[in-house]
Amino acid sequence: MYQEIDLDKIDIHAEPPTEEPARQFYFMAKCREWVREFEEENGRVPTACVTTFGCQMNARDSEKLRGILREMGYEAASEERADFVIYNTCTVRENANTRVYGRLGQLKPRKKKYPHMMIGLCGCMMQEPEVVEKLKKSYRFVDIIFGTHNIYKFAELTATRLMSERMVIDIWKDTDRIVEDLPNKRKYDFKSGVNIMFGCNNFCSYCIVPYVRGRERSRDPKAIVREIERLAADGVSEVMLLGQNVNSYGKTLDTPMTFAELLKEIEKVEGIRRIRFMTSHPKDLSDELIEVMKNSKKICKHLHLPVQSGSTDILAKMNRRYTKEQYLELVSKIRAAVPDISLTTDIIVGFPGETEEDFEETLDVVRKVRYDSAFTFIYSKRTGTPAAVMEDQIPESVIKNRFDRLLKEVQEIAAKACKVHEGTVQEVLVEDVCDHDPEMVTGRLSNNLLVHFYGGKELIGRYADVELKECRGFYYIGEAAGMPDIMRGNVC
Ligand code: 5AD
Ligand code: SF4
Repeated sequence: MYQEIDLDKIDIHAEPPTEEPARQFYFMAKCREWVREFEEENGRVPTACVTTFGCQMNARDSEKLRGILREMGYEAASEERADFVIYNTCTVRENANTRVYGRLGQLKPRKKKYPHMMIGLCGCMMQEPEVVEKLKKSYRFVDIIFGTHNIYKFAELTATRLMSERMVIDIWKDTDRIVEDLPNKRKYDFKSGVNIMFGCNNFCSYCIVPYVRGRERSRDPKAIVREIERLAADGVSEVMLLGQNVNSYGKTLDTPMTFAELLKEIEKVEGIRRIRFMTSHPKDLSDELIEVMKNSKKICKHLHLPVQSGSTDILAKMNRRYTKEQYLELVSKIRAAVPDISLTTDIIVGFPGETEEDFEETLDVVRKVRYDSAFTFIYSKRTGTPAAVMEDQIPESVIKNRFDRLLKEVQEIAAKACKVHEGTVQEVLVEDVCDHDPEMVTGRLSNNLLVHFYGGKELIGRYADVELKECRGFYYIGEAAGMPDIMRGNVC
C-alpha cells in the first residue's frame, strides 16, 4: 500500500521534481510512456521478472521493485519469458555470488538474440566494488546496476537506461535516507513483510552485511504503524517485521524507542492477528521484550535467535558479544515466560580457529536448546571482513565432517521437537494450495511450522483450526477440526 498517484496526470515533459517520492513517480510515468510505445510497436505489453537471492529483506525489496514495475506498466512473467530481468542479489556467502555469475552467463545468449531485452542487477552483491569492476569488464551486456541504498531510484535508473544506450551504474556507499510511500506488490494478499530498520552496526567478524547494507537506521514508528494500518485495511492479517537486528530498533531515532514499545503500538492495529519479526540478536534481546511477548495475543510463538557458535571463545572471535552461558540463560528466560515458544537459529561451522572442542560446544547448545529448526552454514570467507584475515582457517574436509554431524543432530532433534504438538488442535493461517497434492492446502502455525490438510483454495488467507494428526519431520499432516472460520462466517 502506498499513496495512490495517477501517473497519467504527471507532466512528463516538465522538469523532474527534486523531492521524493514525487521524483520517482515522475520517472515511473516516463517509463509508462515507453511501455505504451513498446506495446504499440510489438502488439504486446513488455514483461518483467524480479528474481530474489538471499534473505527476507531482499524478498521485501523485490516486492518494491515489482510494485514499481507494475506502475510502469510491465506485466509479470517467468524469468525465461521476461523482457526485463532483475536479479536482486545476496553476498552473505561466496556461493551466492557464484550463482549470480552463473545465471548471468545463461542470460547472455538470450540478450544477444533479443537486444531489446534489459538486465538489471541490484542488492548486496552490487555494494562490493570488485563485483562492479568485474561486471563492467566481463558482463557488458548488463543494463542497470544499483545497490541496496538507492533501490527507491529504480524507476529513475530504468528511465535513464531507456533514454540512453549505456550501462547505468549507481551505487551509494551508505545513506541515512529512507524514502517512504513507494509502490510495492506483495507476494501474498494476506501477509506482508514490513521493514522496521535498515543496515547493521554489529560487525560480527565474519559478516559482510554491515559493509553492504550500511549503518543501522530505524524507520519512524508512525510510518511503520501507518503502513501496517494500510496493510490491514488491504486484507493483511499477518506482518513480519524485518531488520538485521530488530532488538536494537529505535536507538537511532530522534526520539529513541525500544522494539518492545514498537511492538505494543503495532499490536493495537485492528485487523492484524499475527505479528512475527526477525532477526533477533541475542545480545540485545531485553527483558522488556520477553515481557511483551509473554503478554501478547498477537506476537507469534516463534523466535529466531541465531547462536552462530556454542563456543564462548569462538563467539568472542566472532564479535557476537555474548557467551555460551549467557545465550543459554536467555533461552531459559524466554522459555519460562513463553513455554510453548518455538526456537530456531543460525549456526556457522568452520569459523577460523574452531577446534573440535569448540564444535562440541556447538553440539552441546543444540542438544540443550533443542531447536525446532536450524539453518546451518559452512563458514564462507568474505573479503574485507576481520575473519577473512584470521589465522587458522579450517580445512574443507574438517568443516564438511563437522557440518554433516551438526546437520544430523539438528535434524534428529527438530523432528522430535516438532512431534510434541502431534494431536493438538491449532490455528493455521492457510497460505497456498499444497505443492504435492492439489486437494490439500498448506498453512502455517503460530510457531511457524507448516501443516498440510485437505481443503480448497478458498481457504487461502483464512484461519482454520486444524488437528495436527501426524508429524513428518518438519511439517504436519492435519485435519480441519470443525469448520474453518470462512465457513463459520468468522472471517478476520
Ligand atoms: N559465512 C557463513 N555464514 C554466514 N552468515 C553470515 N555471514 C556468513 C559467512 N561469512 C550466516 C549467519 C547469519 C546468516 C544470515 O548467515 O549465520 O545469521
Ligand atoms: Fe551480520 Fe552480525 Fe549484523 Fe547479523 S548482526 S547482519 S550476522 S553483522
